[in-house]
Amino acid sequence: MQETIARVRLEIEAYDLATAEQLDQFRIAYTGRKGQLADLFDQLKTVDPQDRRAVGQELNQLKQLALARFEERQQQLEAATANAPADPTFDYTLPTVPQALGTRHPLSLVREEIVRILARIGFNVAEGPEIEDDWHNFTALNFPENHPARDMQDTFFVKSEGLTPEGSEQDAKSPASYLLRTHTSPVQVRVMQAQQPPIRSIMPGRVYRNEAISARAHMMFHQVEALFIDENVSFADLKQTVYYFVQELFGAEVQVRFRPSFFPFTEPSAEIDITCLICKGKGCNICKGTGWVEIGGSGMVDPAVLEQSGIDPERYSGYAWGMGIERITMLKYQIKDLRLFTENDLRFLRQFESLI
Ligand code: DAH
Repeated sequence: MQETIARVRLEIEAYDLATAEQLDQFRIAYTGRKGQLADLFDQLKTVDPQDRRAVGQELNQLKQLALARFEERQQQLEAATANAPADPTFDYTLPTVPQALGTRHPLSLVREEIVRILARIGFNVAEGPEIEDDWHNFTALNFPENHPARDMQDTFFVKSEGLTPEGSEQDAKSPASYLLRTHTSPVQVRVMQAQQPPIRSIMPGRVYRNEAISARAHMMFHQVEALFIDENVSFADLKQTVYYFVQELFGAEVQVRFRPSFFPFTEPSAEIDITCLICKGKGCNICKGTGWVEIGGSGMVDPAVLEQSGIDPERYSGYAWGMGIERITMLKYQIKDLRLFTENDLRFLRQFESLI
């Protein structure tokens, strides 16, 4: 019996398992139900009882060896077939089916460019919620309650039972009212509440106004706010930063003009105009014959706003501006209808592919 075991072991060790057929024959001959190993186990009962244990052990080892060889080779063969071509006539030189890659939206491209330009001179990016409380959107920005200045921006109000304002100075007794932010300026307040000067932040984001949708107006659009607060900041700093920004974004030949204006949260305030890019300043119907187009509002942050946001107006001053990203994009790429940005017409969107 032990001799048979030794002979079978040599056979198993030497068995050629090159192909799947050989592997199958191996299984039938040795490990299968009617194979030699099963035979040997049957014969175990004929072995002298005192040797039976030792022979049984040897037999078990032999079985493990056979199973190990079988399984190892089986796995190798399976892995090889998985990697092999399913169809040997398949032509690997055929060109692939091109995968249609999406393109970035023009508003995203312009927003990213704005962020890059201002990051180069030390501005970081801050964000705030689109569902904002009345205090951050209006009161803290010096729009007194029930003041007509609130009508400058037609507001969507939000039903707000059960919501509690975060970081708002709202009187605890009167419930906070919520709205869709009408501008990105409330993020200025949030940044100042969270951090002491020096502050150099830009705040891009979506804003909402209750307006009928047309070629020139939408109920949802994007702005980017800039806020710079430190000791001894003056209007000259504001002008110089806007000059740099406009020239980086639109080109060195584009001029900037500040026009006196009013915003509740800045004093003094100015609107920012640039040379009309359509007629290059000669006057056309886009700039209504003036040669200038407005890109946003700006000013020195009102001391009352600094105070409401927890910053000492005796020690610090700063400037802010807010610009429309759609407006900038329309000027930069001569887009004439605001609705194109939200229609998702691929013929429009694909034109910006090459600008990435
Ligand atoms: N928030 C104003 C608007 O939406 C724009 C604006 C004007 C922002 C002056 C400013 C600013 O930061 O200083 O009409």
